[in-house]
Amino acid sequence: MKSTVTSRKSYPFGSMFSEDAMLIAKDFLTHEKQELKNLFVKEKDIDNIIVVGSGNGHYSDIAFNNNVKYIGIEPNYNVPTKEREGFHIVKKPFESISHHDLSRGKNLFVFWFNVSFYIDNYGDKLNELLRGGDVIFNSTWSRCKEGASVMDAYFKQVYIKYHSPFEYKNTVSEIINTQPLISRKIKNYTNMEIISNNINTIEIIYI
Ligand SMILES: C[S@@+](CC[C@H](N)C(=O)[O-])C[C@H]1O[C@@H](n2cnc3c(N)ncnc32)[C@H](O)[C@@H]1O
Repeated sequence: MKSTVTSRKSYPFGSMFSEDAMLIAKDFLTHEKQELKNLFVKEKDIDNIIVVGSGNGHYSDIAFNNNVKYIGIEPNYNVPTKEREGFHIVKKPFESISHHDLSRGKNLFVFWFNVSFYIDNYGDKLNELLRGGDVIFNSTWSRCKEGASVMDAYFKQVYIKYHSPFEYKNTVSEIINTQPLISRKIKNYTNMEIISNNINTIEIIYI
């Protein structure tokens, strides 16, 4: 599959969603989903959820349950997605998104499952797209001992499936050494909070 991602190097994204790898990341994803659902309980006036790295519609169930429009941003999959009202996939990397790809109203940008790590200069693009009232939900691996150990097991599984058993260590250490907080790059925000357990850290930024 030809990648259109402009990030630093190529990653085995297909294997990141294999059943075995997802099983290892189960507690990360359970916490992430619960916190995303909790956000909808607190934030009643979101119009659109924009899921970055959406595949062919990850978290569209949450959008439909909360009556908000769903926009997925996904450069790497050519799986035909069934477009329907309130559901749309933009087949581009986040770096290439413009206001024309989005809808009117209050946006919730969801960077799920550590996707921010793969996006070049996400701060520049967010500062261009964000409007007052928008919210960012950024989910990454917790950097504590337990988080690092689950992340290590996850990437070992991903890269073994990808037949490149030596690469996983580099990816894990790159992630550990990368600053995970999106808020550091945002010019204007009114509030932010961090919700963390041993495996998953969520950063919520209110513009
Ligand atoms: C959600 S991330 C998963 C990362 C991995 N689970 C981890 O822990 O690091 C993978 C998804 O992000 C997508 N993706 C990668 N680079 C992207 C970019 N620049 N813009 C939008 N989506 C991107 C991939 O195609 C894939 O569907």
